[in-house]
Amino acid sequence: MKVNQAEFVISAVRPSQYPEDGLPEIALAGRSNVGKSSLINRMIQRKNLARTSSKPGKTQQLNYYRINTDLFFVDLPGYGYAQVSKTEREKWGKFIEAYLTGRELLKLVLLIIDLRHPPSKDDQAMYAWLKHNGLPVCIVTTKADKIPKGKWQKHIKIIKETLEADKGDPLVLFSSEIGLGKDELWQVIEERIGY
Ligand code: GTP
Ligand code: MG
Repeated sequence: MKVNQAEFVISAVRPSQYPEDGLPEIALAGRSNVGKSSLINRMIQRKNLARTSSKPGKTQQLNYYRINTDLFFVDLPGYGYAQVSKTEREKWGKFIEAYLTGRELLKLVLLIIDLRHPPSKDDQAMYAWLKHNGLPVCIVTTKADKIPKGKWQKHIKIIKETLEADKGDPLVLFSSEIGLGKDELWQVIEERIGY
């Protein structure tokens, strides 16, 4: 996809604030600090449209980014951030859960995993939950630039095994830093939205 226009639309904290354009939505899920916002920026070739931070827990709402008039990226708050209180976490869980299970326009969930480490318990639970709810998932292993190329396949294997990933789910090797995987991920997205 050629990105001609990308803009931040809204930080939604309740369903009445979701955009009403009817465009397909691609959500990004993953641990806090894994690189969700960076991935959006890379996909649209903008330095800092989606706010990134070296401090985890920065994204707390559903952040909607409109790409052309073709789709929305929906940047979800990261999970697994210990500094957030239990009540906050539960409230957060309900809100995200309601979005993921109830949003008909949601066409694909990008589950973002750090290529360097085996998926955490939270990652495993998230993947299992997404599959249980019948959501189409694409696994994106990011920060590939941080490990030598010769080790990529070994890490991918561990990630697939730990998640017990469905063979039918696409997996894209990615790096927001160097742009690896961008075209491949666009292809997966385009196919899902029938572009
Ligand atoms: P939350 O909004 O807190 O959930 O975090 P996030 O998942 O949106 O992470 P974010 O994109 O803010 O990135 C976190 C940190 O990782 C930042 O310091 C980024 O520069 C860095 N980072 C993200 N992607 C990559 C990557 O592919 N390679 C490298 N080397 N660093 C990355
Ligand atoms: Mg973020």
